Amino acid sequence: MAKIGIVLGSIREGRLGEQVAAWVLEQARQRGDAEYSLVDVKSFDLPLVTGAPPATRNKQYDDERVQRWSDTIDALDGYVFVTPEYNHGVPGAFKNAVDHLAPEFFGKAIGFVGYSGDGAIRAVEQWRTIVALWGMRVVAPEVHLTFAADVRNRSELVPADNRAGQLAKLLDAVVEAAG
Ligand SMILES: Cc1cc2nc3c(=O)[nH]c(=O)nc-3n(C[C@H](O)[C@H](O)[C@H](O)COP(=O)(O)O)c2cc1C
Repeated sequence: MAKIGIVLGSIREGRLGEQVAAWVLEQARQRGDAEYSLVDVKSFDLPLVTGAPPATRNKQYDDERVQRWSDTIDALDGYVFVTPEYNHGVPGAFKNAVDHLAPEFFGKAIGFVGYSGDGAIRAVEQWRTIVALWGMRVVAPEVHLTFAADVRNRSELVPADNRAGQLAKLLDAVVEAAG
């Protein structure tokens, strides 16, 4: 059975992303078609990237936090990035986490759940460009959660009725690509 990580990229205090990732994980685990786990970037407490380019490191890192992050990502067959949008782009801490690695992601399956005021469409487009470098199998279906449709009082996630169906299509595609 494929192992799929739901990667929560926000590390902010009070992050909405925790609710988004919990919803994705809950929906995913009802399917029984893959082994789904939560990968919380915040829990790795990663330093800023200051070392040699990851492609030269053979998945071996001096910092034990980076090694644990590498081992976690390496053990998975596919990913759903749960990404907010900050200033019309990918969040810096999430990008920094991804920049620590490279071969761990090569050729794996990936899909995106974006959430922000207007759905993180720009951030997801940027992620697509970033992961293209690694020959990842990027699936077409996406989920974009917006404040207007899916978030009450800018703080409580209440996904609109059509979102579970959109997520199901995304997960179908990620599981197939991870096959
Ligand atoms: C630094 C920063 C920049 C933001 N920029 C955008 C933006 O460009 N577009 C948008 O739709 N929302 C933007 N927002 C709103 C976020 O999408 C919203 O706060 C969301 O809850 C962030 O996810 P998080 O709470 O999981 O960190 C921004 C929020 C922050 C903190």
